[in-house]
Amino acid sequence: MIPDVSRLGLGTGSLGDPAQSDTDVDRLLGAALDLGITLFDTARSYGLSEERLGRFLRGRRDGVVLSTKVGYGVDGVPDWTPECIRKGIDRALGLLQTGVIDLVHLHSCPLDTLEHSGVVEALTAAVEQGKVRVAAYSGDGPPLRWAARSGAFGSLQCSVNLCDQEALETDLSRPLLAKRPLANAPWRFAGRPVGDEAEPYWERFQTLSLPSFGLPWDELAIRFSAYAPGVSSALVGTRSVSNLRRTAEAVERGPLPKDIVDAIRARYRECGGWPGRI
Ligand SMILES: NC(=O)c1ccc[n+]([C@@H]2O[C@H](COP(=O)([O-])OP(=O)(O)OC[C@H]3O[C@@H](n4cnc5c(N)ncnc54)[C@H](OP(=O)(O)O)[C@@H]3O)[C@@H](O)[C@H]2O)c1
Repeated sequence: MIPDVSRLGLGTGSLGDPAQSDTDVDRLLGAALDLGITLFDTARSYGLSEERLGRFLRGRRDGVVLSTKVGYGVDGVPDWTPECIRKGIDRALGLLQTGVIDLVHLHSCPLDTLEHSGVVEALTAAVEQGKVRVAAYSGDGPPLRWAARSGAFGSLQCSVNLCDQEALETDLSRPLLAKRPLANAPWRFAGRPVGDEAEPYWERFQTLSLPSFGLPWDELAIRFSAYAPGVSSALVGTRSVSNLRRTAEAVERGPLPKDIVDAIRARYRECGGWPGRI
C-alpha cells in the first residue's frame, strides 16, 4: 500500500522546463523539504524533472516518497508495451538515482491498453522484483474506474479540485493522489486564458460561479482537494517558493468546514458535473 505521505505533495511538472535554472529548481525543492513535503511526483514526459529530482535528492532520499509515471518515450521501443514498462522503470531508476521507486504510475493509458497489452502485468512484475514499491495508475474516467476495480494498483492519481469532482462521485476504494489540485488556479485570469493550461477549468469556474466563502481562492481550492474523501495527498504544481509556502500554510489550516464542502459539491452537481480531466 501507499507509504505515509505529506498531505501536500509537490508536482514537478513545471520543474522540467529547461528555461528554468537548476538553481531555481533546487531552491524550490529545498523549500518543499523545509515545509515538510515528503512526496514528489514526476513523469517521463516532464522534461528534465526526473533528472533534476534525482540530482537534488542525492544524499537526501531517506523519508522522501518518489512517484513517477511510465508507458511511453523509451527509444526504440513501442509505447505501451511490457518492454516499454520494464525499460521505462529502469530508465527512471537511473535518472532518479535510486534503487527503488516508491510509486510508479501507468500514465493515463486508455482502457483497452489496461486490459489487453500486458502493461499491468509488467508493472506488477517490477514490484515483485523490488524495483517499485507500489504499482499505481494515473488517469480519469472509465480507465480509472477499471484500475480501481482491478485490484492491481495500490494507489491512484486523478484530478480532484473545485472544478473536477468526478472521482469524488465514485467510490474508488483506493488511496488517491489529487492532481491539478488548484484547478490550475483559474481565478488568476480576468478573461479567458486562451491556449493556457488553465483554459478548460477557467470555463468550468465561470459556470460554477462559486463564492470564495471569505477565503483567498488558493486556500479554498487546496483545502477542498487535499482533504477530499479518499485523498492522501494533493500534488500542487508551482515554480514559486512563495506560492508553495502559501499553499502549505493553507493546508496546515485543515479541512474546510463541512457546510462549505457540501455547498461546493452541491454546486458541481447542479452544473451537471464534467468528465475528469486527464
Ligand atoms: N498524471 C497526469 O496526467 C497529470 C496531469 C496534470 C497534473 N499532474 C500532476 O499534478 C501536478 C500539478 O498539476 P498542475 O500544475 O497542472 O495544476 P495545479 O497544481 O492545479 O495548478 C498549478 C498552477 O497554479 C499556480 N499556483 C500554484 N500555487 C498557487 C497559489 N498559491 N496561488 C495562485 N496560483 C498558484 C501555478 O503557478 P506558479 O508556478 O506561478 O505558482 C500553476 O500555474 C503536476 O505537476 C503533476 O505532478 C498529473
